[in-house]
Amino acid sequence: MSISVRDVHWSAGGAMIVDGINIEVAPGRTLGLLGPNGSGKSSLLRLICRLRNVKSGVVSLGNTDIAAMSRLDIARRVAFVEQQATTDAQVTVLDVVRLGRTPHRGPLSPWSSADDAAVHAALCHVGMPGRAGQLWHTLSGGERQRVHIARALAQTPSELLLDEPTNHLDIQHQLEILGLVARLPVTSIVALHDLNLAAMFCDSLAVLHRGKVVAAGAPEDILTERLMADVFGVRAHIERSAYHGRCHVQYRID
Ligand SMILES: Nc1ncnc2c1ncn2[C@@H]1O[C@H](COP(=O)(O)OP(=O)(O)O)[C@@H](O)[C@H]1O
Ligand SMILES: [Mg+2]
Repeated sequence: MSISVRDVHWSAGGAMIVDGINIEVAPGRTLGLLGPNGSGKSSLLRLICRLRNVKSGVVSLGNTDIAAMSRLDIARRVAFVEQQATTDAQVTVLDVVRLGRTPHRGPLSPWSSADDAAVHAALCHVGMPGRAGQLWHTLSGGERQRVHIARALAQTPSELLLDEPTNHLDIQHQLEILGLVARLPVTSIVALHDLNLAAMFCDSLAVLHRGKVVAAGAPEDILTERLMADVFGVRAHIERSAYHGRCHVQYRID
């Protein structure tokens, strides 16, 4: 497995936030992480890149327990786009994306053509190759989100963690970003709220509820009317899309 989470617990403020989670993602696959607000998605992603330390259990990248890895080794492997990533307003798009190269460069090593190539490829991936010189504070919310994703791609990770990456994006860019993530030869975990986009683009889904995985597997196996009611508190009809063959959730308000 590329990412393996085994019986992981994490608590904060006296509450068990991540409560015995098991997740496995094979190399190159995309896992959609679903669940209502407060179900523990962001906390789990932080544990996977060791921005937080597990209370118990093991997170492994490849065959290595991340508790035994240095911060630098983790940063060379895993890129994380946080839900509310912030950036200093005075920098340019290029400055932000270049930050993705930091783990790969020694303190004295000059900027290389490989660094340039990674930054340029990342900007092209998010559809912003001509925007390198633009100042951060002049970007729209969606453009900022795409630049953060470019920064993560410039890191040339083998594992990519994205926390609600489609927030602020119009539908065209939501489809583009998720299509890009699904096609990349990178192992990805993507926290999403849109169940239909998750079913369209993810190889498998894991649904969190109160810090536990309550369903995991192929989208068509786990997105059920019962799950919609029990976990998300809504009534829905699930059908298979004639267009892409994946399941499609139709919400009911009657
Ligand atoms: N550092 C913290 N201290 C106390 N409670 C926290 C902390 N981090 C997260 N929580 C709580 O954990 C729960 C899960 O949060 P989070 O992982 O952000 O959920 P999600 O991303 O699914 O919305 C929430 O109730 C949140 O308030
Ligand atoms: Mg969150």
